[in-house]
Amino acid sequence: MPASLLIVYHSQSGASFRLAAAARRGALLEADVSLVWRRAWDAGIDELAACSGLLLVAAENSGSLAGGMKDFLDRCFYPAQPLQLNRPYGLVVSCGNDGRNTDSQVQRILRGVPMKLVAEPLVLRGKPGLEQDRACEELGQAMAAGLSMGIY
Ligand SMILES: Cc1cc2nc3c(=O)[nH]c(=O)nc-3n(C[C@H](O)[C@H](O)[C@H](O)COP(=O)(O)O)c2cc1C
Repeated sequence: MPASLLIVYHSQSGASFRLAAAARRGALLEADVSLVWRRAWDAGIDELAACSGLLLVAAENSGSLAGGMKDFLDRCFYPAQPLQLNRPYGLVVSCGNDGRNTDSQVQRILRGVPMKLVAEPLVLRGKPGLEQDRACEELGQAMAAGLSMGIY
């Protein structure tokens, strides 16, 4: 069975969606990795347990992880623990001028699942543009390539 990358995103204004779509474009360059793409509201433990790796894209709202993504992680937490998934994951935080708490909050939650952070989180401040798109494309492609090569 080919390796699969699950991209889960939550977006209100479209900023996180744009970044997730860029990550998806990058991941699609690795033809032998299958891609599963879900809004956080539509994802759950079935998708998490089935994937080989995970990429999360969400905003910081009021100093913490945006609620839609928090809901996804909360719904998965207890069902995932007995599975000891330890899957590789990456993180993109879209934010205005901070994002640090969201980064550490996600890492803290996923340590408990557990999952394994395999790339430096991208904390992207301000309205996304081409530079931010490129960073997400590279992250998506790097994660897909890593899964394809089995390096995680
Ligand atoms: C209700 C609300 C709260 C926000 N709080 C923060 C914050 O605490 N720190 C920050 O850096 N940006 C904050 N922002 C800015 C968003 O993180 C930023 O605009 C992000 O790109 C939104 O992505 P999205 O609309 O795709 O979810 C906030 C935005 C909103 C609407």
